[in-house]
Amino acid sequence: MGPQVAPAETKRPDAEQHRALVIVAAGSGQRLGHGIPKALVELGGRPLLAHALDSLGPLRAPGLGIDLVVLVLPGLPPARERLAALGAEHARRASIPVIVRDGGPSRPASVARGVDAVAEQARHHGWDERSLTVLVHDAARPLTPADVAERVARQVEAGSVAVVPAVPVTDTIKRVDPAGRLGHHSEQAEQVRETLPRAELRAVQTPQGFTLEFLLRAFAHLGELKAEEAEALTDEAMVAEALGVDVAVVSGDARALKITTPADLLAAEALLAERGSEPSSPGTDPAGRPPAVVVPRVGIGHDVHAVASAGEPRELWLAGLHWPGEQGLTGHSDGDAVAHAACDALFSAAGVGDLGVHFGADTLGTDREDMEGASGVRLLEEAARIVREAGFEIGSISVQFVARRPKFGPRREEAQRVLSAAAGAPVALSATTSDGLGFTGRGEGVLATATAVLIPQSPSPAVS
Ligand code: CTP
Ligand code: MG
Repeated sequence: MGPQVAPAETKRPDAEQHRALVIVAAGSGQRLGHGIPKALVELGGRPLLAHALDSLGPLRAPGLGIDLVVLVLPGLPPARERLAALGAEHARRASIPVIVRDGGPSRPASVARGVDAVAEQARHHGWDERSLTVLVHDAARPLTPADVAERVARQVEAGSVAVVPAVPVTDTIKRVDPAGRLGHHSEQAEQVRETLPRAELRAVQTPQGFTLEFLLRAFAHLGELKAEEAEALTDEAMVAEALGVDVAVVSGDARALKITTPADLLAAEALLAERGSEPSSPGTDPAGRPPAVVVPRVGIGHDVHAVASAGEPRELWLAGLHWPGEQGLTGHSDGDAVAHAACDALFSAAGVGDLGVHFGADTLGTDREDMEGASGVRLLEEAARIVREAGFEIGSISVQFVARRPKFGPRREEAQRVLSAAAGAPVALSATTSDGLGFTGRGEGVLATATAVLIPQSPSPAVS
């Protein structure tokens, strides 16, 4: 037997209705025990946050019609950068604004920061607080089907100010004496006080849905409570209950399970494997024909810049980083050979030409005024956008840098983070010298060679 579902409108009531999605992902994942923030823990080779974003997409159309995504992330690098890069990639692919905020010390504090960001945007765009539906979702529920979020949002838009998705409980639930202890020794064992009527119990999931107006009221109420009272209200629906506001229940989904412990991660892996074998999974065509083979494309790029002469001091920019104290490179642009080689590898893999074709014969931006004098990182961002627009997703980019100076070792990870954020995909960097031979060996110039792997998003994307 499913939860009680009040009838909901199937249409959004008016054009002024807006929807925002807040994904809280700032937790540390102590119980999972991977030693990294839970949102970065991989499921089927991809971070939980990437799944959470994808499972609720295609967000813009014809799916949920989300106008804004707020990601609430751990404050510390490098986790923050990696998770923010996932958000940026999603923003580009789904054409939805993605805003990033630092999390707070508890889940409610993180939700409050996400909701603040929504409120700021609502003011900025002139959206009405009463007709702005805010879906609050845990990154820890990576496989939540989009139709759960759709049901929640529709119920809010049908007039409920607070809505939770829920599933029936299958275990028999008993209330125990909390003074006892779960243990092997009978003298410490907990005592059962009562058995709760299972038909009345529901396991509640996310995303939970609210009007922005209600959430702002709920947080104002929380601010008036003593710290311990506020901490006892672990989700926003509980605040609604405390305020005497009705909380509507719609059907959740077993696949919206929450990953808390290693056993949950195993269960999610199994669900993911099952989903991959369903006929409607990506890579299979809707008519049920055998899946088209998606063949990745590989590209290569190469860039050389001369070291500026001693009489012409220049700043050095390489791999998106400034290198104080190092002599810079010649060229009209910033001379970032590493970023330029990465761009050319992307263009080459997509079969869409090279830097000259897209940014002007001398990479100056003569053909594109907006790119005039653009930094290497800016060019890489734009190259990534162009190949995505041409129908490819970026698998990875590798760049090898050959020169005597600068020494990349100590800043390699920093450079990888900057370039990965620009490309919205993993960029790996390696460096070597040429044993004193050639122009790189003599310190006259630098050389960078890059490869890129692109994945066509349909069996035959447009290649010019
Ligand atoms: N969360 C958050 N900020 C916090 C704590 C939790 O944004 N200060 C988020 C988590 O990232 C997660 C959701 O709230 O998506 C549910 O929290 P939980 O499952 O408890 O995740 P963690 O706090 O990461 O895990 P643990 O409690 O085991 O450390
Ligand atoms: Mg927690």
